[in-house]
Amino acid sequence: MAIQLCNLYKNFGPNKVLQGMSLDIQDGETMTIIGGSGCGKSVCLKHIVGLLKPDKGEVIVDGINITAAEDEEDLFAVQNKFGFLFQGAALFDSLSVGDNVAFGLRNLKKDVGDSQARRIAREKLALVGLHDVDHLKPAELSGGMKKRVGLARAIAHEPKYIIYDEPTTGLDPITSDVINELIIDLQKKLSVTSIAVTHDMVSAYKISNRIAMLYEGKIIEVGTTQQIKTTGNPYVRQFVTGSSQGPIKVKLREWE
Ligand SMILES: Nc1ncnc2c1ncn2[C@@H]1O[C@H](COP(=O)(O)OP(=O)(O)OP(=O)(O)O)[C@@H](O)[C@H]1O
Ligand SMILES: [Mg+2]
Repeated sequence: MAIQLCNLYKNFGPNKVLQGMSLDIQDGETMTIIGGSGCGKSVCLKHIVGLLKPDKGEVIVDGINITAAEDEEDLFAVQNKFGFLFQGAALFDSLSVGDNVAFGLRNLKKDVGDSQARRIAREKLALVGLHDVDHLKPAELSGGMKKRVGLARAIAHEPKYIIYDEPTTGLDPITSDVINELIIDLQKKLSVTSIAVTHDMVSAYKISNRIAMLYEGKIIEVGTTQQIKTTGNPYVRQFVTGSSQGPIKVKLREWE
């Protein structure tokens, strides 16, 4: 087992977000977490990489309990294993594309020099299909290209795990598919283990080995894409078919 989320609880004031969430991620798989807007998917990803600490429960990465890691060095070593494609790409507007990728790398790998970082940045940009763009500013790129730059930055330090937060949100269906293909390609080429979050079911079915649904703070079902497609669970079925009719009621306020 590569990553284990064990009985996680997380509240923000009265807002109970994770309420006993457990999930195991196996080596080499792409696991996708699906769930409604505001249900806690991004919060869950931030727990996996140690950006948030649970009120209760444990996150275990390669046998190391990162929730108990007090030492900055230990946490840094674990965080180094992750590449994170943030929701909305989160590039630095004032830095060129090349520097955006090189910056992340230099932050994580202190022994990499400037010129080496630039060379690796170009190499990773090529891996995501971007050539001769390193001098451009993010504002000069389309949404799909920005996601690719975010992806190049996420893989620059050759992480063991890649985290994708909404990799296709805001992209047209064809550009989304290019990103999906890229995710599949990276899994094959780099043999990484990936955790994705999305509410784009086309993407979820395409990139995932397994899918888990988060609902009311817990994983209510986990299965292969085929099992999820043919699920008997009325909550999961309503979500994956995108129906407003069924047991899931849309709340006006998330903490109700
Ligand atoms: N740092 C924070 N402080 C306070 N509340 C937070 C914080 N981060 C998230 N939340 C709250 O936790 C809940 C879950 O947020 P989260 O961003 O994980 O949702 P999500 O499932 O990723 O939604 P979306 O699909 O819209 O991205 C929301 O109600 C949000 O307001
Ligand atoms: Mg989110």
